[in-house]
Amino acid sequence: MAESEGNKNAKDFGIGIPQETPGFHVKGSAAYDWGMKHRLSQIFHPRTGRVVMLAFDHGYIMGPTSGLERVDLSIVPLIPYADVLMCTRGILRTVVPPQCVKPVALRTSAGATVLTELSKERIGVDVEDAIRLNAAAQAVMAYIGAPFEHETLGVLTTTIDAGMKYGLPTLAVTAVGKDMVRDARYLGMSCRVCAELGAQFVKTYYCEPDFEQVTAACPVPVVIAGGKKISEPDALELAYKAIDQGAAGVDMGRNIFGADCPVAMIQAVRAVVHEGEKPAKALELYETLKNQLA
Ligand code: R5P
Repeated sequence: MAESEGNKNAKDFGIGIPQETPGFHVKGSAAYDWGMKHRLSQIFHPRTGRVVMLAFDHGYIMGPTSGLERVDLSIVPLIPYADVLMCTRGILRTVVPPQCVKPVALRTSAGATVLTELSKERIGVDVEDAIRLNAAAQAVMAYIGAPFEHETLGVLTTTIDAGMKYGLPTLAVTAVGKDMVRDARYLGMSCRVCAELGAQFVKTYYCEPDFEQVTAACPVPVVIAGGKKISEPDALELAYKAIDQGAAGVDMGRNIFGADCPVAMIQAVRAVVHEGEKPAKALELYETLKNQLA
């Protein structure tokens, strides 16, 4: 039986040797049926294999946080530049125009707020409602090492099972327990556990050093959250480093909608993710677009 202690340190990550993805562009998904692959192709661009997800689901735990006071005013203008929208069903039905044809990663876990124990989540949306909303994926938290780890992994596996019935992918969002350090060992474990449980893709945080170990040891695509607001140059650098070390994209919120010029920022992030633009060039693009919009 595997033990929690006394194991040899993992070290053979095969960095630089890509995992084979025979006949399909999404890592780890070659064996799925047509519907699952079709939804994954809406998420991960068939040309680049990458994605820019715009995350604005924060309100489900934080309420009207900075930048999301009026989603109709701050987020709707960004929709044309995003590949995928990540939000709750409440915001989707009330604010996001149904004429928008962007795929949706629907937040389907719920049950806590920042005022309580965040890991105490349950399933918050029936899979039938996710399908009614034409979701391209369900997104649930996985709190590894948190008080309610067991429950959130139950939510994850139940969601994956429900998604498998309908060819609906599951995004496991690795949430960090309060006492956990965001290093490659912890984040690598979180991502791998989620993939082993059957998540089709995983969201985590970028870390230094050794982020490439996190992505190499995860057999499905990893997208990174932006995290707390940092400067625009730093956020572009973060996105670049993550992609350079194997991330398949970003699922970014505050560093896009909280930027000085969000419409310019999301286009600069796109240049990094889809075109591999270096941070300095992407920053130039940001400044140019910002000046044009001023
Ligand atoms: C947390 O509430 C959500 O899952 C966010 O979607 C996630 O944290 C990504 O947003 P940000 O880039 O602002 O961290």
